Amino acid sequence: MAAMATSPHSLLLKNPNRPSYTHLLKNPTTSTVANGLHLTSSRPRKHISITCVTTQIQDRPPSNSTPQSEDRVFNFAAGPATLPESVLKKAESELYNWRGSGMSVMEMSHRGKEFLSIIQKAESDLRTLLDIPSDYAVLFLQGGATTQFAALPLNLCKPNDAVDYMVTGSWSDKSLKEAQKYCKPNVIWSGKSEKYTKIPSFDGLDQNPDAKYLHICANETIHGVEFKNYPTPKNANGLLVADMSSNFCSKPVDVTKFGLIYAGAQKNVGPSGVTIVIIRKDLIGYAQEITPVMLDYKIHAENNSLYNTPPCYCIYMCGLVFEDLLEQGGLKEIEKKNMKKAGILYDAIDESNGFYRCPVEKSVRSLMNVPFTLEKSELEAEFVKEAAKEKMLQLKGHRSVGGIRASIYNAMPLAGVEKLVAFMKDFQARHA
Ligand SMILES: Cc1ncc(COP(=O)(O)O)c(C=O)c1O
Repeated sequence: MAAMATSPHSLLLKNPNRPSYTHLLKNPTTSTVANGLHLTSSRPRKHISITCVTTQIQDRPPSNSTPQSEDRVFNFAAGPATLPESVLKKAESELYNWRGSGMSVMEMSHRGKEFLSIIQKAESDLRTLLDIPSDYAVLFLQGGATTQFAALPLNLCKPNDAVDYMVTGSWSDKSLKEAQKYCKPNVIWSGKSEKYTKIPSFDGLDQNPDAKYLHICANETIHGVEFKNYPTPKNANGLLVADMSSNFCSKPVDVTKFGLIYAGAQKNVGPSGVTIVIIRKDLIGYAQEITPVMLDYKIHAENNSLYNTPPCYCIYMCGLVFEDLLEQGGLKEIEKKNMKKAGILYDAIDESNGFYRCPVEKSVRSLMNVPFTLEKSELEAEFVKEAAKEKMLQLKGHRSVGGIRASIYNAMPLAGVEKLVAFMKDFQARHA
């Protein structure tokens, strides 16, 4: 038991209104909060643990069903991004002593039965959410999506193999540049000259039949361009590979259309530190000889993502998010909520008589990242500043494109978008 500067006894004495201490001892699973002090009895009559929280923890309602706590901001960051409040509270309640194990998930052996149950449940819930068939492996890896930019060519082709890349924004451009080191990528379409505001029709794409795979970034986080459907790969292997970092689990996806999907967790499904790879099993086992062991999908698949020490706590957090998404009704429900949120924000932009402007072609506007500019660009800094005063943070556009960007991932409550829209209207009324 960690020694605390202030014992629960002394705090109880200082605050006569505090709930009964004996009540806690009789109800080991009850967590009670007063004035920010959270008392949990994990082993009744022997130990009392103390953590600081701000609200009462009870059985977790699915996220988005309760209003956001007063002490939370609306965080429009592109990632790391806002997480469901209910998930954070659940994690908080389990932080010190995970389900009676006597330790935190951060302290567990990754080979112990407790953590194995956590990673297996996370994988199984993700499989349910995305309806992932059994001939696909799910890997929990490290190094961010950026590491996958190199892992893909290293695992899926030899140095002289051709691959096709669609460049629809900064992230697919970065993945292309990394691939250039390990194979021979060919850009079959680039939106650069149109400032990455479009996705072309797929019919006219000049795909190389000898390409080992066709790579896309399903949602360009910086430019706010999202694929609404997917090109059919014309290469011999029929392989489509997608970076889904910023729209992972935001809507249903037919996994069977892809050979490989990868996503950093820190936008829609967890904290930074874990990257999820979903790969068709027959593609595993062909890594180039120079492939570092940590980038070899075969090693990770054979060891169920436990070849070396995995990002245990991040995987645990993803597992809580997956549970929450299932409790909300799965990805069809999530998509409906995301469409509603994005809809009211794009409407506010389009109905502002040009005061706000979204450069992205309407048919491919992202449900997750909404970039916009102000007609009077000199007001953008003021917009961000005033929004922050209203507890709406991280609205500044990416440094490479400027303007404003509102990232409205799964965990952004509708109330957050409504508040932003109300603020935008008020701002326009004052500055038009
Ligand atoms: C679409 C996309 N791909 C890749 C990355 C890079 O991810 P990471 O920082 O986890 O390497 C990001 C990060 O924002 C992204 O948005």
